[in-house]
Parts: sequence; C-alpha cells; structure tokens
Amino acid sequence: MHQNRTLIRGDNLEAMREFPDESVDLIATDPPFNSKRDYFVPYRDERGRKSETLVRAFTDTWTWGDAAEAAYRELIVDVGGQVADTIQGLRQFLNETPMMTYLVMMGVRIVEIHRILKPTGSLYLHCDPTASHYLKIILDALFDTRNFRNEIVWSYHRWTGATKHFQRMHDILLFYVRDRKLSKFNILTEPYSEKSKHKARRKTTVHTDGTIDQIYTGDTSREKAMRDVWEISYLNSQAKERVSYPTQKPIPLYKRIIAASSDKGELILDPFCGCGTTLMAAEELNREWIGIDLTYLAIGAVEQQFERLFPQHKNSVTITGTPENVEQALALAHTDPKGFEEWCVTHVLKFKSNAKKVADGGIDGTFRFPIGRVQGKQAYGKAVAQVKGGNYTLGHIRDFRTAMQNQDADLGVFVVTSPPSSGMRTEASRAGTYRHPLFDMEVPALQIYEVQDYFSGILPKLPLGERAVL
Ligand SMILES: C[S@@+](CC[C@H](N)C(=O)[O-])C[C@H]1O[C@@H](n2cnc3c(N)ncnc32)[C@H](O)[C@@H]1O
Repeated sequence: MHQNRTLIRGDNLEAMREFPDESVDLIATDPPFNSKRDYFVPYRDERGRKSETLVRAFTDTWTWGDAAEAAYRELIVDVGGQVADTIQGLRQFLNETPMMTYLVMMGVRIVEIHRILKPTGSLYLHCDPTASHYLKIILDALFDTRNFRNEIVWSYHRWTGATKHFQRMHDILLFYVRDRKLSKFNILTEPYSEKSKHKARRKTTVHTDGTIDQIYTGDTSREKAMRDVWEISYLNSQAKERVSYPTQKPIPLYKRIIAASSDKGELILDPFCGCGTTLMAAEELNREWIGIDLTYLAIGAVEQQFERLFPQHKNSVTITGTPENVEQALALAHTDPKGFEEWCVTHVLKFKSNAKKVADGGIDGTFRFPIGRVQGKQAYGKAVAQVKGGNYTLGHIRDFRTAMQNQDADLGVFVVTSPPSSGMRTEASRAGTYRHPLFDMEVPALQIYEVQDYFSGILPKLPLGERAVL
C-alpha cells in the first residue's frame, strides 16, 4: 500500500487495481466530463484554445472501440448483477456513442472505487449535468440506492455570453457511502438564514489564498445543518492556489467534503487528481492523501503547487510512474515520445509546458527568470527548451538556434538521449554566451543536455527563478 503524500502518474484503473480491498476512507474526485467543453484535455494554449492534436487523441478515447468493448464485457461478465442489467440497458438506449464509451470507461473505474473503499468510507463524484444522470444510475446499481446520500449542487458565478437557455452555473457532486449503517458523517452547519447571519457577530478571516472564512459567534443557536446546495465561488484569478489548470476546482469546496466525511489522519484518494485540489484540501485538514493522474503535466503541477502551499513539507512527496533511472527514461523516449517530452519539460527542467503542441515552432517548454528592474518594472529573461527523444542531426541544432532567435530567448536547452558529435557542439557554441545582468553568471546560450545526467544530479546551468509548469 502506498504511503501518505504519494502521486501516481498513470492510468487510475491499473493503479487502483493494486490497492487492497477496503483500504481508503474517502474518495473525492472530479473525472473528465463527457462534454465538449471539458473532455479529457488539460492542455490549452494561452488563449484557452485546445490543441487539435490532443483533442483528436483524447476524442479517440471516447470513440467506441476495442477498449470500450473490453470494459463493457468486464462489466457484464465479471461484475454482473444489477450493474450488468444497467449497462446493457444503457447500451440499448445510447448505442455505441461517445457517451456510452465514457460510461463504460467510468463504470470499470467505479467498480474499483467501490472495492477499495472501507465499509465506513464515502465517495463524492464530481460531474456536470451532461452525464450526472447516467452516472447516478450506475452508482445506484453498484453502491445500492439505499447508500445514496446526496446530490450536491455546487453553484457558482462566472462570466458567460448570452444564450437561449438559463446560464449553466452549477456542477453536481454525487455522494454515496459504502455502507449506510457504518458510514461516518460529521455534521457541518451554516447560519439559519440571511437574517440570523446578520444578528450573529461575524468574524471574517481572509486567507492569503483569497478564500474567506466566516465564523459566527454569539447567536450560534441559529445555525442549522448544512444544505445540499453550496454557494462557493469559482477560483478568482488572484487566488494563491490558482495555477491555471483549466479544470482546477476551488480548495474550499473539497475542504467541505473532506471535513464532512473523514477525520484527521484518514486516507483520502483522488484518482483523477489534476493539479491536486483534493490533495491540497486534505493536507490543510491533516488527512493523508494519494493522487493519481495520467499526465506528467498534472503530476508536475501538483508537486509544485504542494511545495508552494506547504513549503514546510518540501521533499516529502513520493512520485511513482515516472522514470526513476536512465533505462526507464530511454524506454519512455522509445515507447511514448510525447510522454517523454512532457516528462523532460515538466519534471526534469521544470519549465512551463508548451501548450500548443501543434506548430510550436520547435519549442516544448519555457522558463522566465527575473533579471532585476528595468524602468521601475520587474524584467525577465527567457529560456526555451526542445526535447529530442530519438536521433538528431546538426540541422536540428541549427533549427533550434533559429527558433531561439525567433522566440527572443536568451537561453536554450536542447534535451537529448545520446551525446552530440563535435560538429554539433561547434554549432551549439555559435549561439554564444549568456551573461546574467545581475549575477556573476556566464553560461553557454545553447546547452545540449543529455537526460542521463539528470540521474547523476546534474542539471543544465540556468539562472534561479520560481518554476511554473503550467
Ligand atoms: C477534471 S480534471 C481534474 C481537475 C482537478 N479536480 C483539479 O482541481 O485540478 C480530470 C483529470 O483526470 C485526468 N485523467 C483522465 N483520465 C485519467 C485516467 N484514466 N487515469 C488517471 N487520470 C486521468 C486528466 O489528466 C485530468 O487531469
């Protein structure tokens, strides 16, 4: 069993299959929704557009094919019972559509979620209204309708254009317990009414992350048990927790869930953890946590967000599912070049991942570092990176030098898996030397970096600066 503060990079189905039965106290998770708005795609460019290549890759995941057929068979044959009846009925109605693909993919994962929850445990499944009604049927079949606790409405405000329907301003959280007789629930309260809220003396604490806690003293008898409609503001752009992960959710929302359905020291799992909202909320409330995500980018983002919010626990996070030695790194470069590139950018260099992916001008990652003040404003230098997991030529280095110029970059890191020839070194040296305007630092402007060095603790020579993978 994994220890506290573990991040698993990989498919949560395989990862959860490794968990023992009845080993987790609470699962609070926000899977990708089956809506065009969200899909599976965490990568966007700076204007918020999704990368076409990735949209296609992820859309394939939602197209009925061998994987969906295998998941379907598993639900019918291995799980059976009411789940099989439900899934069969849904297939008759939905046919082999992206929605049905989504539901069987979620179905096999929900089976694992149910298996690994302790008898006292709970599940909160975050969905949007496009799929929540279908997911509820599957959850009813698996958990038993009597273990359904709430359909929580998380209501928020955000900017949208005018449309021919009411503005869609809520998500749904489906709350189930493994066993209603054994389940644990800490009653949370809220002011009885708006009026009593004003009568009671209010102490407002504004946290540095932009969240607000209001504690009512005095007339607290006017508190009532909390409703299932929650008004919690979406992340504001200044919130300290904001790391611009497109599907990032507010920490206060997940703190509420964790406070209600777990106690200190208990284990919280988020198998679709994204940039780690559930995990940060768990840490704030002194719970143990494990997060799983498919992408290197998300795992890199959680690690950074954790170090920023909890610097006192720096270096206490264990990451699995990323290369741990040279052989694994080379194997990744061979089997999954995109994954290798993403890992090099977000884990080795800790550069901001280039979201565009298509027509990226040969740049896979960027890092901006402070170089003091110019005309009263903080100025930044720019480093860019390109990853070449396979063979490379002198021409590639020349092209990268051109890309550096086009990007106005001061520094460039060309990440490779085999040593450069002397001609390549000469070509790289043509980029000259970079001198930091503030510090006594002089480094080659174009560095060819062999990823093998990472495992000997050697990194490219770069100026200091706060890293941000997103
Ligand atoms: C809606 S986002 C979660 C956002 C998160 N709640 C936050 O606040 O950042 C869904 C995440 O699930 C991940 N994901 C999708 N399929 C997965 C799978 N099969 N296994 C693990 N993670 C997966 C995606 O990479 C994405 O980061």
